[in-house]
Amino acid sequence: MSASLATVSYIGATILFILSLGGLSNQESSRRGNLFGMIGMAIAVLATVFGPKVGASGYAWIVGAMVVGGAVGLYAARTVQMTQMPELVALMHSMVGLAAMLVGFATFIDPEAAKEFTGAAKSIHEMEIYIGILIGAMTFSGSIIAFGKLSGRIGGNPMLLPGRHFMNLAGLLVVIYFGGVFMESHSIAEAMTPVVVMTVVALLFGIHMVMAIGGADMPVVVSMLNSYSGWAAAATGFMLSNDLLIVVGALVGSSGAILSYIMCNAMNRSFISVIAGGFGTTSAKPKAAGGAAQPAGEVVAINATETAELLLDAKSVIIVPGYGMAVAQAQHTVFEITKVLRDKGVNVRFGIHPVAGRMPGHMNVLLAEAKVPYDIVFEMDELNDDFPATDVAIVIGANDIVNPAAQDDPTSPIAGMPVLEVWKAKTSIVMKRSMASGYAGVDNPLFYKENNRMLFGDAKKMLDEVLTVLRA
Ligand code: TAP
Repeated sequence: MSASLATVSYIGATILFILSLGGLSNQESSRRGNLFGMIGMAIAVLATVFGPKVGASGYAWIVGAMVVGGAVGLYAARTVQMTQMPELVALMHSMVGLAAMLVGFATFIDPEAAKEFTGAAKSIHEMEIYIGILIGAMTFSGSIIAFGKLSGRIGGNPMLLPGRHFMNLAGLLVVIYFGGVFMESHSIAEAMTPVVVMTVVALLFGIHMVMAIGGADMPVVVSMLNSYSGWAAAATGFMLSNDLLIVVGALVGSSGAILSYIMCNAMNRSFISVIAGGFGTTSAKPKAAGGAAQPAGEVVAINATETAELLLDAKSVIIVPGYGMAVAQAQHTVFEITKVLRDKGVNVRFGIHPVAGRMPGHMNVLLAEAKVPYDIVFEMDELNDDFPATDVAIVIGANDIVNPAAQDDPTSPIAGMPVLEVWKAKTSIVMKRSMASGYAGVDNPLFYKENNRMLFGDAKKMLDEVLTVLRA
């Protein structure tokens, strides 16, 4: 393939990626957005493999890598449970970071690559390598820790080392100092020490940054690492002088940054505080996620028949799904119940919290999979004022996102996070298996409210029972 054809293909792929991102911003157009992305990626890979920079001798390596990578990816995609999706995404971010780091080292020790540049261009190239390895290493180790936290292998509590902000500052100064030493080095051997020191500091910083973030703030970390992985890809693009990789990396990096900003707004968090770590966790230490909440009053348990009766008496119902719906895979039964109620003239709507579940858009994906119409699915802000006029609010496997302590208890680790005000409905029904706390590990006063009922059991099993009664 000639260089000009490769360039045209890159421009075409870039346009498709932009259209893809545009499509993904809306539920109706998201399938089309995915399709654009897939076509764009296919064009990008073909134009790179058959482009002028890869000789025939490289094909065997590329095909071998694609077969191994494709097989691992196919296996992961086919076997991963929907509930493991966030940790898979975190693991994939770590791969982008690792790739950036390795490309950085490979470019750094390649004597031929160094000969291509002289004067100012050489300095810029060296800076690209240094920054590329830095971002890559931080993304790699941070994503591995995020993977550990999301999969429950590492506890959700923030690790707050004494003087952690000074440690971060010291790390930054070391990185800047050794950056200067690296730029002034005259040989690869001489430059090796500063690069290795910087890599170790960056790896430690990535670990420290994510370890210091409490469970409730993990959504921001996930989107932030998404952004970092984009910048790591862009840095790789600079090192390899690949324009498409630079553009795509910048698209991912900036859209991830915008998503992080939206998540911070949704959770009423300051972006800087979350990155600095430990925000909102100093005054009250959260209990371990999934641990039993301390009893703080009476709870009223009901069964499936009573739930069905409450639903049949209602004129308006709001369903609030959470992580437990994903665990139970209850979305299809939820939709069956919705259809039965709508046929009986009940106004049924879904209320989606921005951080419900374990990844951005988690609930929307599940509801779309069950074919719930988009026009009855609303964002938190769109229907939070409607709860007082709602007969039944039914909470399916959600906990933190409906916790009134976020509004009432300034010492709570989730204080200030906007929540769905289900307790303002005439009756709220919480469907979960036990009194255990949610991801943030805090007790939920909703369970003890007078107008709240608890339907204990696996969400899918209980909803199946409710559906049977409704149909009868
Ligand atoms: P959580 O607060 O984690 O609560 C989920 C509840 O579901 C649990 O209390 C659990 O109680 C219940 N549950 C689990 N399996 C169930 C099953 N099979 N059937 C019925 N119930 C089941 O979830 P949420 O309300 O969706 O809030 C999300 C939390 O995750 C927030 O703290 C958020 O910050 C955090 N987080 C979000 C993200 C993103 S990006 N969305 C990323 C990381 C962390 P039982 O054990 O008693 O059943």
